[in-house]
Amino acid sequence: MNKLDLPIRMRRNRSNHNIRRLVAENVLTSADFIWPLFVLEGDNIVQPIDSMPGVNRYSLDRIVEVVGEAVALGIPAIALFPYTTPDKRTSDGFEALNPENLMNRATRLIRAAYPDLIIMCDVALDPYTDHGHDGLLRDGVILNDETIDVLVKQALTQAEAGCDTVAPSDMMDGRIGAIRKGLDSAGYEDVRIMAYSAKYASAFYGPFRDAVGSTSALKGDKRTYQMDFSNGKEALREAALDIEEGADMIMVKPGMPYLDIVKELKDSFQMPTFAYQVSGEYSMMMAAAHNGWLDKNKVMMESLMSFKRAGCDGILTYFALEATKFLKENS
Ligand code: PBG
Repeated sequence: MNKLDLPIRMRRNRSNHNIRRLVAENVLTSADFIWPLFVLEGDNIVQPIDSMPGVNRYSLDRIVEVVGEAVALGIPAIALFPYTTPDKRTSDGFEALNPENLMNRATRLIRAAYPDLIIMCDVALDPYTDHGHDGLLRDGVILNDETIDVLVKQALTQAEAGCDTVAPSDMMDGRIGAIRKGLDSAGYEDVRIMAYSAKYASAFYGPFRDAVGSTSALKGDKRTYQMDFSNGKEALREAALDIEEGADMIMVKPGMPYLDIVKELKDSFQMPTFAYQVSGEYSMMMAAAHNGWLDKNKVMMESLMSFKRAGCDGILTYFALEATKFLKENS
């Protein structure tokens, strides 16, 4: 009851479509999305990924075409990941430094076609190592500082190819500062760093590892460098370090099970803050939708809005293209 002794009717502001639109606290637009894409060698190939229905690996000719569709719909950013053939995977991940590797060739082609598109490149060694880890491995240990030297060089080849935002996803200590220094001293002071600041050791990455072909390669797990999912406050320290070291944007990964972390980081640092709705989250929703247990479009939009509510400025999501189309058709 209110002061007049009349019932408080919260439902007045929910009674029709227009009033709900008028009082909506958050909105989604195409400008909220970063679209992760997988590239592979060959010509004219669009190869479905079994564990991620609706997601494909594209050869370079086809990636340019599919990116064009995203650009035309107003998606501002893509994130590229390579499917490296097994013969190019070595213990030192040397292919990561090849200026002509698949990622760098893809970046060059896409940059030439779409000068204003934000092209994010993942900085980590896992697509290139025969052991599937993000860093160099010696006697069962992932080496921190030695890995960083390689990551800096990897980021430089990406910047040289036309990448405007490097995204270190490796979780080595001190890599943001080292990459920032490397970029600046090579004249790439305008290249941004999106830090995977709070990246958890997560089983939700399963389908992605299929997508880049590192599932069978991976020996052991990534718990000595990715975060322990028991910890929330530790994410504040990770993000603070990345910001001090020069990150332009911070990211939380996975997404939906970690919205508490998103909110905490956004409230604490007021940085441009992103989340990655990862492969396993996508695949869970798609599997349920295929069984008729969930309405795909509805869970897609509801899950994406949850990121905005938690404080995200944008979302890396495999739904980027579909969600944008949905928004266009339903506005
Ligand atoms: C690896 C990397 C991973 C993802 C993005 N970059 C997997 C991992 O850390 O094993 C996962 C993305 C997803 O699951 O969609 N550097």
